Amino acid sequence: MIETLAPKAPDPLLKIIKLFRDDPRTDKIDLGVGVYKDSSGATPIMRAVKDAEALLLAGQKTKTYVGQQGDGDFLRLVGQLVFGDANRDLIAIQAVGGTGALRLGCDLLRESGAKRVILPQPCWPNHPSIARAARLEPIDAPFFNLEEQCIDLDALIRSFSRAERGDAVILQACCHNPLGADFSGDQWVALTDALNARGIIPFLDLAYQGFGDGVDKDVAGVRAVLERTPEAVVAVSEAKTFGIYRERVGALYVKTAGNAQQAVMSNLMAIARANYSMPPDHGAAIVREILADEALRQAWRDELDQIRNHITETRKALAAARVHSLPMHLIAEQKGMFSTLPLSEAQVAMLRERHGVYMTDSARINVAGLRRADIPRFLDALAEVTA
Ligand code: LMR
Repeated sequence: MIETLAPKAPDPLLKIIKLFRDDPRTDKIDLGVGVYKDSSGATPIMRAVKDAEALLLAGQKTKTYVGQQGDGDFLRLVGQLVFGDANRDLIAIQAVGGTGALRLGCDLLRESGAKRVILPQPCWPNHPSIARAARLEPIDAPFFNLEEQCIDLDALIRSFSRAERGDAVILQACCHNPLGADFSGDQWVALTDALNARGIIPFLDLAYQGFGDGVDKDVAGVRAVLERTPEAVVAVSEAKTFGIYRERVGALYVKTAGNAQQAVMSNLMAIARANYSMPPDHGAAIVREILADEALRQAWRDELDQIRNHITETRKALAAARVHSLPMHLIAEQKGMFSTLPLSEAQVAMLRERHGVYMTDSARINVAGLRRADIPRFLDALAEVTA
């Protein structure tokens, strides 16, 4: 039976990681997977994380299960960080990373009768896979005007006329992956009004809090949506925000009417139980320790500010460059780790093969992974393949 399985195509992002690892050139440049690197090319562990781990090592008294909903203090503190006081009215469950939170949310929607999820394009390549795995049909919607390199909100809202009541839409809360193009405050309001008018459920994906305009500003969109809509689902990842990628720390928050809360929670618990039973502890415990302690929290925020400033400086350096007709100047206007260059797949392959510069086939670059010292060589390579 198992021997009859047909092979699957590798994930587009994981494929790039492998190609990069297998390249023996020592001067190769990795702009593939979304991981922050400092000016030396390292992804250091934040000082606050190290300190929190030391506290955990010294103080932890048991390794028994954390419980099915996860770490209650972690959920409350992250909820406060993302939603402010509105957190009190939300249902929360810990998840295995942001991807796990997205899957829990999609499974919940499916349980509640939803059949489709709208994905503004281009989206993170894992969004359609997660939706399909939860037996939701992914529906593409226009979102970005490639010619003018800006969000086309009217086109997105117009596409809602084809939606059915109970459809959900996955919206990236900040630092859009792969475009770096975020909704303005007014756009969030217009978008939420349009969703409410059609009975579409907003499903927000927050994976880069602190990487765009700052910890508080980056959640203004999430808060605006939750304030205006009766029901919403929010997947949170702390991988990037705390630099703890491999610890798989995430959470799902759900807003719904008060009398449905118990049913929602029990459904989430049942979904989690059948998947991984109970969540891992360590990463969530790190985040809890940091957010609960004023000094650690300040140290973490300071370091996150440095990371954001570093990304902003790299964006500015790229935006100042002239590379034929490429719209480099827009890189400074975009937010977070990613931007997408208007390159063909053939040009991306040339960058990889001739210059050892790695990015996804869709020409998404991880700006946060570009070392300052590599910028001139990256720009030369870009100029060569676009000449
Ligand atoms: C990315 O888009 O590079 C990250 O979110 C990592 C991943 O899992 O795809």
